[in-house]
Amino acid sequence: MIPQDFIDQLLSRVDIVDVVERYVPLKKAGQNYLACCPFHKEKSPSFTVSPAKQFYHCFGCGAHGSAIGFVMEYQGLGFVDSVRLLAEQMGMPVPEVRSANPEATRAARERAVSLEDLLERAAQFYRQQLKTAPNAITYLKGRGLTGEVAARFGLGYAPAGWQGLAEVFPDYQDARLEEVGLVIAGEEGKRYDRFRERVMFPIRNQRGAIIGFGGRVLGKGEPKYLNSPETPLFEKGRELYGLYEARQAIRDKNRVLVVEGYMDVVALAQHGVGYAVATLGTATTGEHVKKLLRHADDVYFCFDGDAAGQKAAWRALENSLPFLVDGKALHFLFLPAEHDPDSFVREFGAERFEERLLADSLPLSVYFTQELTRRVDMESPEGRAHLLKLASPLLAQIAAPALGLIVKKRLAELAGVTLDELDVLSGQAKPAPPRGRRDYALPARSQRRDVTPIVRRQIRWLLMNPGWAADIVIPDSVPLTDEAACFAMLVECLQGYEVPPSTGQLVESLRDTPYHALIDSILNHALKEASEFAEPDEADREGFREGVARLWRVLNDAQLDELKLKSQHEGLSPEEKRLLWALLLSRTQAGGPADS
Ligand code: UTP
Ligand code: MN
Repeated sequence: MIPQDFIDQLLSRVDIVDVVERYVPLKKAGQNYLACCPFHKEKSPSFTVSPAKQFYHCFGCGAHGSAIGFVMEYQGLGFVDSVRLLAEQMGMPVPEVRSANPEATRAARERAVSLEDLLERAAQFYRQQLKTAPNAITYLKGRGLTGEVAARFGLGYAPAGWQGLAEVFPDYQDARLEEVGLVIAGEEGKRYDRFRERVMFPIRNQRGAIIGFGGRVLGKGEPKYLNSPETPLFEKGRELYGLYEARQAIRDKNRVLVVEGYMDVVALAQHGVGYAVATLGTATTGEHVKKLLRHADDVYFCFDGDAAGQKAAWRALENSLPFLVDGKALHFLFLPAEHDPDSFVREFGAERFEERLLADSLPLSVYFTQELTRRVDMESPEGRAHLLKLASPLLAQIAAPALGLIVKKRLAELAGVTLDELDVLSGQAKPAPPRGRRDYALPARSQRRDVTPIVRRQIRWLLMNPGWAADIVIPDSVPLTDEAACFAMLVECLQGYEVPPSTGQLVESLRDTPYHALIDSILNHALKEASEFAEPDEADREGFREGVARLWRVLNDAQLDELKLKSQHEGLSPEEKRLLWALLLSRTQAGGPADS
């Protein structure tokens, strides 16, 4: 929506060091700057800012990005808002959107701001109402809350009556009231407040802006909690109740606790456990976990002790697997069935609660195996086979390599198979070809060959050193895997620049391309050595050149093998025959197969 030219210009004027320094004190270390990472708790600094690359990277948690990315992450702002903020600081007017419909985009932005404003005004009204609602005050006091904590969470009260909000919004017909979920338009155009006679819990985003509400009935009634619907501002799968209020406590403890209910969060805070957040009546999503792991190294889930709580915990585990990081840990605490965190902390106090949290919670790996073995009959071979069947799709999703391996080993052991056998079962390694059909098997050489790590490495080097694209020639006949296509795209994109962009500029220019996620994951998982972030020397560059040559050979050979196999097996089309010749030819030119 904002022209790419402008973003390039902005990033060439802004210095990421200044931008970061506004929020995080930096120390010079060689050519780069260092700090303790603002996105996770750490004792020795691994957050590195490179003025040359206009890029930051945390070697602890993998956070990375340009100056714009930093503002987005740190301030919890969207892309456009972050660009605006930086442009404003540089005194650069943001050119009006060059989208197909500039009027509409501007209007959309203004509307988002005005929607937040509506919710803020409603919250103010609810807070005001609470002061003069003895029944609601009695209810909250009865649940052990002081005025102080109620104020900290901005609790309020939605009065009885159908159109209480008309008092704050003279234009009660305003369609935006419906859009943010404050007002419901019933049949025959009758409009009324969504929240009536309820204690109101405002839900804030990371910036502290109110994006929705949860409302609880006083005492008994259905539904117990009423929530704002999903709106342009409020996406339940991303937001966590209480995160804004808990930020400081989470940083201090380097720990975050996920619970199920609004009241759990508030009651825990009341007792001095300030680092709790709640999902919003939905399962814990991967998005949630990703966000939480940014804030702390240890994430604890403490769900209700009942069957629903057990189910919620397992869902949380499943959704977490793709986001696990070695060096960080997830834990699960199961309370006695009759308790939830609120009732527990009220009965036994914060000290007992925290004791239990630390002593009795199960690390994800233990919960994982315990739960799966519980579901099958471990005494019988059939049961153990069932165990492996249940585990294998989950194991494949574990993103943390070391933890993944440990869990896998443990499961193999429990089932009485070896790790290799388990791999074969899960289809991660190919079983030895059956006798007599050897001809059809891929040559052993190509089985060993995994192109992906090489390409990812080359992509990483190129992202860190955009100037290196200049002398790369992309051969015509190279088959493209996703990663190889990404590499080729990068090379082409970079060769289009007269002056190579900085890493920060490059990464921003790829934000809206289909390669964004891949590049992000490469930077996230792979950039682990500080040396790759330092200024490279001639030897590095030579290594990169060799890597490119090797990459083309490996891709070439991989396809050759495939075509040869196919020609033995089922024959080749004329098209494929031509390709085979082209590949053979380019191999002789390039000087032999990759492994020689
Ligand atoms: P619980 O019923 O466990 O709530 O629902 P709770 O926090 O223990 O409630 P109290 O202690 O009786 O006040 C947990 C969460 O599920 C969602 C809410 O987000 C709630 O905090 N929920 C529950 C709803 O959205 N609607 C409901 O009717 C019930
Ligand atoms: Mn409860």
